[in-house]
Amino acid sequence: MRLFVSTPNSTSSDAYQGGLFSEQRAASYAEIVTGPEVARAVVDRLGLKQSPASLQSRTDASVVPNTVILKVTITDPVQARARVLVQAVAQEFIALVQKLERSPNRAGSPINASLLGAPVTSSTPVSPVPPRNVGLGAVLGLLLGVGLAALREAFDTKVRDPDELMEFTNAPLLGTVHFDNAVAKKGLITSFNPRDPLVEVFRVLRTNLQFVRVDQPSKMFVVTSAVAGDGKTTTACNLAISLARAGYRVALVEGDLRRPGVATGLGLERAAGLTTVLIGRLDVAQVMQKWGEDGLSVLTSGALPPHPAELLQSRAMSDVLADLRKSFDVVLIDAPPLLPVTDAALLAAQSDGAILVVRHGATSREQVRMSLERLTSVHARLVGTVLNRSPKRQVTSYAYSYEYAPVRGRHRPPATRSANSERTAGKSADPEEVSARKPANGGRAARKRANAEREARELAPSDRFDSSLVTDTVVPADAPEAVGPGRRDLATERPGEGRRG
Ligand SMILES: Nc1ncnc2c1ncn2[C@@H]1O[C@H](COP(=O)(O)OP(=O)(O)OP(=O)(O)O)[C@@H](O)[C@H]1O
Ligand SMILES: [Mg+2]
Repeated sequence: MRLFVSTPNSTSSDAYQGGLFSEQRAASYAEIVTGPEVARAVVDRLGLKQSPASLQSRTDASVVPNTVILKVTITDPVQARARVLVQAVAQEFIALVQKLERSPNRAGSPINASLLGAPVTSSTPVSPVPPRNVGLGAVLGLLLGVGLAALREAFDTKVRDPDELMEFTNAPLLGTVHFDNAVAKKGLITSFNPRDPLVEVFRVLRTNLQFVRVDQPSKMFVVTSAVAGDGKTTTACNLAISLARAGYRVALVEGDLRRPGVATGLGLERAAGLTTVLIGRLDVAQVMQKWGEDGLSVLTSGALPPHPAELLQSRAMSDVLADLRKSFDVVLIDAPPLLPVTDAALLAAQSDGAILVVRHGATSREQVRMSLERLTSVHARLVGTVLNRSPKRQVTSYAYSYEYAPVRGRHRPPATRSANSERTAGKSADPEEVSARKPANGGRAARKRANAEREARELAPSDRFDSSLVTDTVVPADAPEAVGPGRRDLATERPGEGRRG
């Protein structure tokens, strides 16, 4: 809608003066036409439901340059309504101008404002403007994405990075187990091809366990995690199987007397087990079950007690553990999570340390910190961590990367050098090698040798190489000698050497 601003003078000089006057006035009128008084008058006059401020915000006015024409625009989604509104605005504006400009000495107004033709509506919407909105949306989306990523980075406290985990816990990373759907279906490494990366991962874990940074004999480990479902049972069972395959005498103990999973996982009888021994009904030997060809011994839970923590702290429990220590090379205890209940900490305190399973992208740093606190509070040690359910890419790049690995014979950490010197002395720390070298000595030695030979056959030379590389990678280079003279632990105690039974 256009408004013409003029003065009612007749002479030419008056006309010139009047023109200037009108031009100056037109500029002020642009302010008035978009002001609250006009908007309020229009709302009252048309009986609108909307507020004067809303109408005001949609009213725009500008002076056409070098003219006394005022252009008034109203934005409204309905064309007909826009027309009515702009007309009303023009009329209310003219009425207001005439009221404002009326001179007390003269009858008329020194200035007129009149409508120029009918209001024009535009069919081109001012909003939305698709190209502009798409561009704006893309930019905003990008900014939002970058912002969210930065926020996630800042607030994401989930553990994802193996290096960060090692640094945070100040403990070696024993292994990185990738997420594999087949694990949920099959569960155990025995169901996988021996060259499957998952089987290799547990070989690596087993190897690393021999070289953990320990300052006292170690053979009894609790497998735990911060919270439920992180993969403790899966890790404990597969690590036990892998150790048994290497010829170790391994006992896998169900220490989770709340949600036992070992018996189900291995397809064993659960009715008689640890609790049966603890209440004195049977001996360990009577309830210990054999699993698989490699002679893995499993102590399932037995009947579930009402107060597991009490049983786990009992004298009977420490007697059972002492018994197991005497009879096995390695004892793995599958425990409940550390944070909800005290059981795992109690078990860790009675063993040589805990292996903490950390679930990639789920366990938070705070949960790891609290787990460590739980262990420290009972003077239990963290032996190392296992990062479970990692993306396969990460496991590959971290564990099997050739660039990352030391060159054979160079940069050997002390633990490995020591193991090498023992090999030279004919006492290899590698159970496979020991078993393979030792002469057959009755049924037990023959079984171990058979196990080792089978494993050796399963492992291609490249597999072996990988495994040693990872060992070198994850055990800190400044670790004290893990294999020392006179020590009887996983690293020095080798299958077939000085065993009872
Ligand atoms: N690396 C993996 N890839 C895929 N699935 C996995 C992996 N590790 C564990 N799982 C699956 O996650 C589930 C929980 O694993 P598991 O029972 O071992 O955890 P848990 O810590 O012992 O649980 P709970 O606290 O209940 O005892 C199981 O279904 C298991 O098959
Ligand atoms: Mg479990």
